[in-house]
Amino acid sequence: MTIPHSYSISQFPAIRLRRHRRTEWIRQLVAETALSSNDLIWSVFVREESVSPRIKGMPDVERFTIPQLLEAASKAQDLGINVLALFPVIPFEKRCEQAAEALNAENVLLKAIRALKQSYPNLGIISDPALDSFTSHGHDGLLGDDEDVANDETIQILCKHALFQAEAGADIVAPSDMMDGRIGMIRQYLDTYGYKDVAIMSYAAKYASAFYGPFREALGSDKCLGKKNKKTYQMDPANALEALREVALDIAEGADSVMVKPGLAYLDIIQQIKQKFMVPTFAFHVSGEYAMLKAAAAQGMIDYNKTLLEVMLSFKRAGADGVLSYSACEVAKLLNE
Ligand code: PBG
Repeated sequence: MTIPHSYSISQFPAIRLRRHRRTEWIRQLVAETALSSNDLIWSVFVREESVSPRIKGMPDVERFTIPQLLEAASKAQDLGINVLALFPVIPFEKRCEQAAEALNAENVLLKAIRALKQSYPNLGIISDPALDSFTSHGHDGLLGDDEDVANDETIQILCKHALFQAEAGADIVAPSDMMDGRIGMIRQYLDTYGYKDVAIMSYAAKYASAFYGPFREALGSDKCLGKKNKKTYQMDPANALEALREVALDIAEGADSVMVKPGLAYLDIIQQIKQKFMVPTFAFHVSGEYAMLKAAAAQGMIDYNKTLLEVMLSFKRAGADGVLSYSACEVAKLLNE
């Protein structure tokens, strides 16, 4: 029997989608999504001198001292990266239940912000008012009598922490704590003190995820947390509609942009948020996602550079305006090649 050339239900052979895949130039011509170094926020750890640089779960990522951070920031800018998100690593002896070190104007985070701003006035700085770097119990907020994070009491200190960061020179405060109502309270507090132009990027849809493992090791909050978890404030991975409610509330409270975290396992959330709210939306390519690529590549199972670029592009395709990533410099380097 001869094979028919067409089917009545198809427009084949008139239509052949492969025509637009034949050459590199035509593939680029019809590409729907593009990735550039302008889409990247480099997330970095800054440490005191006494903390070691190495992070077991994150090969090729280092905790930087402030001088190292300044040097790294300069290299990042040469690659076209203009925004950094900072996460401080505080020695254990300076952590306590009340996170007092967060409100020490000479802590390593605030010093780092000031140093970066002084050296590079045009570099964007994002910093996080959450308390997990500073608490001896490893939670993002203060504990109440029931050992759960106390929402309203935590907001009080988050507001102050955000103000300290704004005073130090942060351009964007990005609260990752998931307390109810904190965006509006932080907005009001910053405005009261004259920081009306400091923006708020809300970690609006932040899930209680196992992908944060290497980050908690990097911060040392894993040891502080022990067997405890953050499920009473971070979202249940089963929920999508709830993420939309979180975003709606945060926008109403004054968030300038929102974030979804983790990124890769939550592309559906990014897409829905972008389509529904049309606000600047960011994905956090989190530590566990970073570690997976590194580990698989180290085993020779995948091509690191290609998979990395593919993952980054997927965030953009889903609707993200930008991506926070530990790989930002690697990505920028690849894009420049
Ligand atoms: C906590 C915070 C976490 C991350 C960023 N901010 C972890 C957590 O909620 O325990 C995770 C980032 C990553 O895994 O890369 N304030």
